[in-house]
Amino acid sequence: MKLYQVPNYEAARLKAAGLIAAQINVKPDSVIAWPTGGTPVGVYEHLAALYNRGELDFSGITSFNLDEYCGLADDAPQSYHYFMDEQLFSKVNTAKDRQFFPDQNAVDINQACQDYDAKIAAYGGLDLAFLGIGVNGHIGFNEPDTVFSAGTRCVPLTESTIQANARFFDNADEVPRDAVTMGIKTIMSAKKIILVANGPAKREIMEQALCGPITPDVPASILQVHPDVTVIWSHA
Ligand code: PGA
Repeated sequence: MKLYQVPNYEAARLKAAGLIAAQINVKPDSVIAWPTGGTPVGVYEHLAALYNRGELDFSGITSFNLDEYCGLADDAPQSYHYFMDEQLFSKVNTAKDRQFFPDQNAVDINQACQDYDAKIAAYGGLDLAFLGIGVNGHIGFNEPDTVFSAGTRCVPLTESTIQANARFFDNADEVPRDAVTMGIKTIMSAKKIILVANGPAKREIMEQALCGPITPDVPASILQVHPDVTVIWSHA
């Protein structure tokens, strides 16, 4: 594991964007898993700036988002489809027909989740999984007490995640109770992983994830056994 401890969010977002840009420059047809939430916003902003300066070309990449809330329409303002379009896809030249999300409203959601993993495999597997981390240690929406061997699936959200994400909704009651998420097995199959953690609220869980026991209670702790993980961590 490579660990960059950086002084603040500005340094974290620039470091992460630089590493992601390098991945795309070295392998223009990279298959990339993208996260949502507050942490990646500044990273996406810098990636879009690199594109605008003519320094980065997204036309060859394929995107698979980590997760999506169940029950929201794709164009609902709180959906992760909407988030990705707002924050990145509408600002750069990714091919629209290679922007994939787990199908949160499929009639047969289990089948749709299996199809998602099959599609990732059909595209050659993930070259890069870019991750945030929840205050409870989740990656994607793999909540504590996760199953390390699970592929993409539908999961209930914990109270801690519902409260943490309430800021993106009018109130906590409006946060969906379930989501579809790439499983830990899917994430761990990525050739390279970049995790960004920012702010004092993440300090304790990051210490557990990086230095504590590898346990389903701290889903991110499984990253300790991945062969190519880069962690960018700012406490400020
Ligand atoms: P945050 O969310 O970036 O908004 O803190 C991270 C996560 O829940 O994975």
